[in-house]
Amino acid sequence: MLVSGTGSLLQAILDSQDESYRVDKVVADKSCQGVERAEAAGIASEVVSLGEDRAAWNQALAAAVGQPDVVVSAGFMKILGKEFLDHFADRIINTHPALLPAFPGAHGVRDALAYGVKVTGSTVHYVDAGVDTGPIIAQEPVRVLADDDEASLHERIKVVERQLIVRVLRAAVRDADAAGGITFDC
Ligand code: GRF
Repeated sequence: MLVSGTGSLLQAILDSQDESYRVDKVVADKSCQGVERAEAAGIASEVVSLGEDRAAWNQALAAAVGQPDVVVSAGFMKILGKEFLDHFADRIINTHPALLPAFPGAHGVRDALAYGVKVTGSTVHYVDAGVDTGPIIAQEPVRVLADDDEASLHERIKVVERQLIVRVLRAAVRDADAAGGITFDC
């Protein structure tokens, strides 16, 4: 698991572990509540801070992640580079707080609100070299209320995100044809 912040999605994933998946390790780009949650749950954790050399950081991040079946980016706020992506092709998924391809990037909730959409939501997708451009795995809508601000809307989206990412992880199927790739039957 890759995290950068509060780690409430991580917590939902940890709390919902069962025979279908287990969290091996939590890797962050900075000290954050997500790392504290991992420690509290007895899960290995590591912080790999971004320095001047982005390629070296991507390699160090990949080394810290190890060789899990699936890499989950849940609230990880840095762009992953080629050196990282090449290690985990078809095995990295991300959860995004908007209905992609609308409102990609770091401010998906704010941008949806500013545009004036009446429905937004959550998307789980594969990570590719673009910003939130990888193939979509699953989506759930969330209605925008007349008095929503960014915080209230994001909180309601996160309720849905937590359920969606757990549903996706429970539906992971190893793809025998894709050299270790993973598909999600959901
Ligand atoms: C989620 O909305 C995620 O999609 C976005 O950042 C938020 C992370 O929340 N990229 P948390 O740190 O898990 O509470």
